Amino acid sequence: MPERQTSRPDLITYLDHAAVAGRAYKQHLLDALDLHPHHTALDIGCGPGTDLPAMAERAGTVIGVDLDPAMVEEAKRRTTGLPVDVRQGDAHALPVEDHSVDRARVDRVLHLVADPPGVLAELRRVLRPGGRAALAQPDWETIAIDPGSVATNLAFNRFVCDRIVRNPVIGRQLARLAEQAGLRIMTVDTEAPVLRDFSTADELLGLTRNAYGAVQAGRITRPAADAWLADLEAGPFLATFTLFSVVVSAA
Ligand SMILES: C[S@@+](CC[C@H](N)C(=O)[O-])C[C@H]1O[C@@H](n2cnc3c(N)ncnc32)[C@H](O)[C@@H]1O
Repeated sequence: MPERQTSRPDLITYLDHAAVAGRAYKQHLLDALDLHPHHTALDIGCGPGTDLPAMAERAGTVIGVDLDPAMVEEAKRRTTGLPVDVRQGDAHALPVEDHSVDRARVDRVLHLVADPPGVLAELRRVLRPGGRAALAQPDWETIAIDPGSVATNLAFNRFVCDRIVRNPVIGRQLARLAEQAGLRIMTVDTEAPVLRDFSTADELLGLTRNAYGAVQAGRITRPAADAWLADLEAGPFLATFTLFSVVVSAA
């Protein structure tokens, strides 16, 4: 039986595994961008360059921006020889000219930032009139897990929302915030990725580490956490959550 994941995994490995689990929504986002060779496309919070090669297959020029120098370095390594320019920068003050981008992607970044409306204002600033952006965010309140105690599942969700994720329900807020930032909403979609493997969900949703974090925070008892994890590990296992995708255009 694989070991439970009690500590945070290496971030690049984590993002690579998340990209495999999120293959379907990532393809949906890429298709929604409708990239063409005359386009300049921007990936805000590009991480280790997960989506840059696929964007570079379709767009003429791709810019990736990330705050974390380790991500920038890895994204540069993964896009060597491709028409991709990776820049270190903050999504709140993008190192990108006004109205210079035809397409932009913001994939699981806004839950981390200090000021999501500020980042959406930056997105609007850099998009050309008629430009388009595709954004995706999970909603951490919606994590549903079986088998095991529903009460512990809910306490786990509350702990993650209160203590782990900075903007945990940004997914459901995305369309409203984008509209308030002056962007035109083209589509709002939800999907519910399904994980059937405990180990994968343990890594991606932090089941063990956050259940024990909830114990330390006094949200659940240690016996309740142990019983819940034992039930999940015994299976048959299922975890799901709502993931929002919003496609917008600039006037
Ligand atoms: C969950 S990862 C997603 C990476 C990539 N979009 C993907 O789908 O694999 C979030 C990324 O956003 C970056 N990030 C967080 N805050 C940022 C900010 N203020 N400006 C730019 N990048 C930021 C992180 O460094 C990280 O690489």
